[in-house]
Amino acid sequence: MTRKIIMAGNWKMYKTVDEATELVEQLKEALADVTGREILVCPPFTALSAVAQALEGSNIQLGAQNLYPAEEGAYTGEISPRMLVDAGCRYVILGHSERRQYFGEIDPFINHKLQVALAHGLRPILCVGETLEQRGEGRQKTVVSMQVYRGLQGIGAEAMKDVAIAYEPIWAIGTGQTATPGQANEMHWAIRNNVEGLFGSEVAQETSIMYGGSVKPDNVDELMAQPDVDGVLVGGASLSAESFLRIVKFQS
Ligand code: 13P
Repeated sequence: MTRKIIMAGNWKMYKTVDEATELVEQLKEALADVTGREILVCPPFTALSAVAQALEGSNIQLGAQNLYPAEEGAYTGEISPRMLVDAGCRYVILGHSERRQYFGEIDPFINHKLQVALAHGLRPILCVGETLEQRGEGRQKTVVSMQVYRGLQGIGAEAMKDVAIAYEPIWAIGTGQTATPGQANEMHWAIRNNVEGLFGSEVAQETSIMYGGSVKPDNVDELMAQPDVDGVLVGGASLSAESFLRIVKFQS
């Protein structure tokens, strides 16, 4: 099994250019010897170029937090995949729950973004996750399966090697309330089954499924010890070098 481990920081709407550069300067030295995992930072758009420059020659990859699914055009305020590639991005986070919640993004639009990202050589991280209410009603697997099926519609099995999925239960994001390792693994296993249903078992076994939602230095080891957790997507704790370093250097 050649599943990639991906340890990613989603900086959301934090960090000026100076703050961003300072953070990656600290990270790249401290992580220079770390192998066996993909290390990724996703700064805001305004800091992408500066961070790309700072990361040159390091083992840290660059990702964006969103894109607009068109080559170019009259889309005021939007950023195209070409621009992201030009800025040095290799990855792009798509369908984050904050985009679904605050910007009305729905599965077909996210699916379109995913296809366009792949066509430009970007590796999408498709985010899925249920609300507390949906979990309370016992619907978490149905909700997440629908997001997976709709989000991955029309994607070829070959292209799936560039797609990662992040399971981010909405009730765990920024709340300090993490899914237990068992809850996370159960959902990851269900997602892997969905991927198997779509693309077969070989692809499913090779798809990296990351966990996101209040990942911290003190819970990362347990989460990463789960057989179906192949990485993490970290918000708050990726904003300081000390905590993100410890997360990337998880022990399990
Ligand atoms: P927190 O780690 O701050 O809970 O955020 C998780 C997240 O949304 C990562 O994309």
